[in-house]
Amino acid sequence: MIEITDLQKIYRMGDVEVRALDGVTLDIAKGEFLGIMGASGSGKTTLLHMLGLLDEPTSGKIIIDGTDISTLNDYDKTMFRLYKLGYVFQDYALVPDLTVRENVTLPAMLRKDLTEGQYRDACTDILTKIGMLDRQDHLPRELSGGQQQRVSIARAIVNKPDILFADEPCANLDTENSRMVLDLFREINEEMKQTIVMVSHEDWHKDYFHRIIRLRDGKVTSDGINDRNAH
Ligand SMILES: Nc1ncnc2c1ncn2[C@@H]1O[C@H](COP(=O)(O)OP(=O)(O)O)[C@@H](O)[C@H]1O
Ligand SMILES: [Mg+2]
Repeated sequence: MIEITDLQKIYRMGDVEVRALDGVTLDIAKGEFLGIMGASGSGKTTLLHMLGLLDEPTSGKIIIDGTDISTLNDYDKTMFRLYKLGYVFQDYALVPDLTVRENVTLPAMLRKDLTEGQYRDACTDILTKIGMLDRQDHLPRELSGGQQQRVSIARAIVNKPDILFADEPCANLDTENSRMVLDLFREINEEMKQTIVMVSHEDWHKDYFHRIIRLRDGKVTSDGINDRNAH
């Protein structure tokens, strides 16, 4: 599903060079729920940005579903993201002036192959699934953090992407809301067979992952199957 070969990302700040990713090679299988762990500054967000087509590597190769993403132009990248990828950010990144329903509908509307009726139904389904249909006309600021994160997950999966990326989605949530988000990911992974790549720094999140990659200084230091969840 995702093949990463010798990925490097170097940030140059004047004379200083930061090797945010320093030769990452990794295969991610279809349907896998992968956890990426590691200390702050180890390169987790950088890796997720590269995989989510939000930024470009300095060198190395990423192949997603048979497509070498370095061959895509900006328009193709946008379409690739819209049809195939979903992204959940730590700080939710909802549009503040749009209602819950409008936020979730946005990526579905941008697709050119769905009728208004189709994307309205898709949005209703997903809002029902996350238990937020009764809040569909609310603005993000009228919701709790946990509710906002559920809406941002709904937005990320409304187009039924093949791969869902999530960067520390529980960082600003208490344990109960974190569990709700992780349970939702597990459900999506099991029901929709979606590949999920999630960054986390909380040890107890390990219980949810099929496989755990650890990063340190931009390198993979361990890669292990979680026996408990392997299938
Ligand atoms: N835009 C940037 N410019 C310069 N350095 C950056 C930039 N983004 C990240 N870095 C550096 O790259 C390294 C990895 O950062 P990051 O991927 O955000 O780590 P993590 O998500 O694991 O905390 C850090 O040393 C960070 O300071
Ligand atoms: Mg980060």
